[in-house]
Amino acid sequence: MADDVKSLLEKVPFRITDPELIPSQRYYDPAFFELEKEKLWPHVWQMACRLEEIPRIGDYVEYTILDKSVIVVRTKNGVKAFHNACRHRGVRLATGAGNCKNAGFICPFHGWRWNTEGENTFVFGKQVFSPEVLDKAEIDLAPCRIDFWAGCAFINFDDQAPGLRESLGPVAERMEARHADKLKMDWWYGTVLPTNWKLAMEAFQEGYHTMKTHPQLHQLSALGNPYGNDADGMAPNRGMTGQQALNTHIDFLARLSSGMGGMVHETEVAVAESLRDMDVSDDALQATMAFYGRLHEDITKEALGRGAPMFDISKVAQEVEFHAVEFMFPHFFLLPMLGAMSSYRIRPLTAETCLFEIWSLVLRPEDEAYDTPKQPTILPYDSPDFPEIPRQDYYNLPLQQLGLHAGEFKFMRLSKDCEGMISNYQRLLDGYLAGLDPEKLAAGSRVVNCGFESPIRDIGF
Ligand code: FES
Ligand SMILES: [Fe+2]
Repeated sequence: MADDVKSLLEKVPFRITDPELIPSQRYYDPAFFELEKEKLWPHVWQMACRLEEIPRIGDYVEYTILDKSVIVVRTKNGVKAFHNACRHRGVRLATGAGNCKNAGFICPFHGWRWNTEGENTFVFGKQVFSPEVLDKAEIDLAPCRIDFWAGCAFINFDDQAPGLRESLGPVAERMEARHADKLKMDWWYGTVLPTNWKLAMEAFQEGYHTMKTHPQLHQLSALGNPYGNDADGMAPNRGMTGQQALNTHIDFLARLSSGMGGMVHETEVAVAESLRDMDVSDDALQATMAFYGRLHEDITKEALGRGAPMFDISKVAQEVEFHAVEFMFPHFFLLPMLGAMSSYRIRPLTAETCLFEIWSLVLRPEDEAYDTPKQPTILPYDSPDFPEIPRQDYYNLPLQQLGLHAGEFKFMRLSKDCEGMISNYQRLLDGYLAGLDPEKLAAGSRVVNCGFESPIRDIGF
């Protein structure tokens, strides 16, 4: 490591010195949180909205991150983003979502106005101002950098930061092969968790917790898992025949669908159920391969038959690297399985609270009528209305935040083989907090976005 990089990193409080150990203060220390606010969030690409939230000209949505707020609006010249502050004396102009096609944005204080394109259209009593104070470039809404990917608008407060695509890396192509840009919302939930934003994310960055947190899924893992036998000495796949494996796979997909919603859509479960009578080999592994081969073909056919913009699942399964969880630094997730996906976005609120959103996304025909949610249904994190799987994850999180404060808990101790994603992105965070060269950070980000169950990797510094 170059000396300048090293000396910058050494200044980061509670920095990671051993990639397998993550200091606990990073999840609650107020000064560390302030440093993230100053050095991370103003310099990263952030998923600001799904474009389907703003389908018509004039539709807008407010994206907030800590004390910053941005208006994302669909204009006749494309989707634009503006800093959400009146150019007179700073009043926040828009809250939530709405349509500004006819009225534009009107400041409630002295009534200055802007059109959909952010151009100032009215200043009350212009003659009482010096002309230079009202210079057009000064009083049009201030634009914020914006780019688009996977059916979403991303914003970045830093005009000098490397581009969105450059920061995403190969995950962009993996998701495009699965038509991520054509996905539509099935549902959208949100909850406030009493945990640090990073802690919340990390519950979804490894599968090692499945045995204990999601036993219903563990028991239906027909091909076992990479960790060996469970605490009761059982390998989930012990001695299965081909037919048993087939049934277990179908039960697994059904359970994943009801428990998680997004990852497996009900239309896909219906196709899987239709394969229960399939003739399969007695060998569990061969039966598994035959089942998934057929399932991929049949789901593709069924969806195309309905006019859905489905990709060729068999072809993608063969040609494109697959990860059941894809993380896009710093706070966005897509979870592909067959044709549908779940998606998460996690935003810090305070050092020890965060907003966690979950979408269920599906490929449905472009012209199919659907009552697309305009905002998330916000539920308490322990609400029985959450699907089973996130509810199980949310149960652990507040306890974990409490445990971090208990005496003698100094470090998270990570598995180098399967909890590497946590270490990788946390070390990238240190790079941001140290103010390293933006190109170096973008290169690190491309490595961090390398998929679920990643081992600890070299992120370039
Ligand atoms: S603060 Fe907005 S018009 Fe004065
Ligand atoms: Fe989980």
